[in-house]
Amino acid sequence: MADCAKIEGMKVWNVAKIMASKGVERLPCVTAYDYAFAKLADAAGIPLLLVGDSLGMAVMGHSSTLPVTMEAMLHHTAAVVRGAGSALVVADMPFLSYQISISEGLRNAGRFLQEAGADAVKIEGGAFRAELVRALVQNGIPVLGHIGLTPQSCNVIGGYKVQGRTRADADRLVEDATALAAAGVFALVLECVPPDIAAHVTAAVPVPVIGIGAGAACDGQVLVMHDLLGLTDRKPPKFVKEYADLAGTVQTAFATYAAEVREGVFPAPGHAYTPSGAIQT
Ligand code: KIV
Repeated sequence: MADCAKIEGMKVWNVAKIMASKGVERLPCVTAYDYAFAKLADAAGIPLLLVGDSLGMAVMGHSSTLPVTMEAMLHHTAAVVRGAGSALVVADMPFLSYQISISEGLRNAGRFLQEAGADAVKIEGGAFRAELVRALVQNGIPVLGHIGLTPQSCNVIGGYKVQGRTRADADRLVEDATALAAAGVFALVLECVPPDIAAHVTAAVPVPVIGIGAGAACDGQVLVMHDLLGLTDRKPPKFVKEYADLAGTVQTAFATYAAEVREGVFPAPGHAYTPSGAIQT
C-alpha cells in the first residue's frame, strides 16, 4: 500500500515537482545508503536522496564502484526508502545491470521500484543511452541521467578526472544532455565539468541539471554524504565542502566509551535497571 500512499500525495517530492523546480529553486541533493541517515536528510528538507553506487567506496571499502551488485543496491535502497518520508529516492543502477541489453536494463530497473520501493533509477552515459531511457520511461520507470565523469567507466577514462575542457567537449555534453532530455530523463547529474561548460549545458536543456564538481550554475547540487559529513578516510575531492567532522566526533566518542569501560566509569548506576532485591549479599 506504500505505493498508493505516494499516489495520494504523501510523498512531497515527486518527479514532476523536481522537473518543475528548474529555474524556480535550487535542488540540494545528497547520497544516502541507510535508514538512519536517510531519515536525517529527509528531515532536513533534502528533496532527492540518491542511493549511489558510491556505496562501493563510501560504505563497502572498495576502490571503485565496479564491484557493487544489484543485491547490494536493492538492500541499501530499501533501507533508504524506509527512512525517506518526503524525499524522492533514486537508486543507482550498478555496473553491468543495464549495459548488456535493453530488456535486462528494464528488468533490473523494475526491481528497484518493485522490490526496494525506489521512485526512480539513475544510469550513466550520454546519447547512446537514449534508447534505454525511452524504454524505461515508457514502461513507467523515471530515469535520472548521468553525464560528464561517469565513474563506472573509470578504466576507460583513465581515472577520476575533470571532463570536457574544449569547445568540442562542451558541444558533445550538450548533445548528450539534449538527447537524454528528449528521451525522457526527469533530470541529469553532471559530474566533474568546468563551471562555464556546466553553465552552458544547464542552459541548453529543459530538465534540472544536478552538478557535482560542476560549479554554481547548475540547477542543483549533489554530494556524497560521507564527504559532506567529513566521514571519509581519504582526502575529499576539491569540489567537496565538509559541513561536519563526523569522523572526529565518532572517533572521540568511541575512544571515550572504550576508556570509560576500561576504567569502570560506564555503566554508572543510572545506566542500569532498578535492582531486583532478590539477591541478598
Ligand atoms: O554513486 C554516486 O554517489 C553518484 C554521485 C556521485 C552522483 O553517482
